[in-house]
Amino acid sequence: MKTIIYYFSGTGNTLALARQLSGKIGNTETIAVNAVKQERIKPDADCIGFMFPVYALNMPRIFDNFIRYKLQVPENAYLFAISNYASLEFGAMAQLKKLLKSKGHTLNLAGGVKMPSNYIPFGGAESEKTQTGKFLSADAALAAMAELIKNRSSHPCHFFGESVYRLISVLAWRSFKKRLVKDAARFYTDDNCNSCGLCMKVCPVKNIHLAMNKPVWGDNCEQCLACLQWCPNQAIQMLGVNPARSRYHHPDVNINDLINAKADN
Ligand SMILES: Cc1cc2nc3c(=O)[nH]c(=O)nc-3n(C[C@H](O)[C@H](O)[C@H](O)COP(=O)(O)O)c2cc1C
Repeated sequence: MKTIIYYFSGTGNTLALARQLSGKIGNTETIAVNAVKQERIKPDADCIGFMFPVYALNMPRIFDNFIRYKLQVPENAYLFAISNYASLEFGAMAQLKKLLKSKGHTLNLAGGVKMPSNYIPFGGAESEKTQTGKFLSADAALAAMAELIKNRSSHPCHFFGESVYRLISVLAWRSFKKRLVKDAARFYTDDNCNSCGLCMKVCPVKNIHLAMNKPVWGDNCEQCLACLQWCPNQAIQMLGVNPARSRYHHPDVNINDLINAKADN
């Protein structure tokens, strides 16, 4: 009875949730999808979990691509998915369900939890009170879901108006996808950059290199904001965003946890 959780995380929320859940379930391996080097992978587990942050009311592109092209879901595996988001998920889970269905699979359990926002274009880090409230609610929700998962229970994965929600997500995604490359060009460093190179190391998709000791962004950005949010000197900025906006990353996750997670598989 082994569980594998596939996750993607830029600022640590999803990694923290995946760790918490694996502790509650037991005998669980957590794998960052950006660490999977194989072209195709068939996990040796009878329970597979998907944990992802919502981006523009959808799964992150890299997460979608992992499931779409790399993952071969084992026959008869129990499947669960848990999204996390700052405020609105809309049809992100419905998108995942549709994708799995197109591959002949059905989710046994689907859930979502609210976590602090890392989307700096909409605002800086939320207040400590709001963050703590979200952590506590998420922990309680995970505890309940862990019991359902351990018992291999079915949890209703359909909700009223799902197809409308999914349509809204599809539309949001179209505009976000167009902006992925353009938004990578919005990053720049200010005078506080000391060329430490941590942005390059933490980027989950190796989209940053140093030229003349300063970060340069390529065109394979996922917009996870790890570079900007983890910069120890708050030296990475985004055009159009107030440089003074407070940064966020999950308090129990360390930058090395994300860097090491990339190299694990
Ligand atoms: C590019 C991007 C888009 C986002 N879009 C949404 C969204 O549509 N709805 C929402 O509630 N939160 C959105 N968020 C917030 C994240 O889903 C949320 O902060 C998540 O917990 C971050 O997870 P991580 O720390 O594992 O990267 C977005 C964040 C990013 C970086």
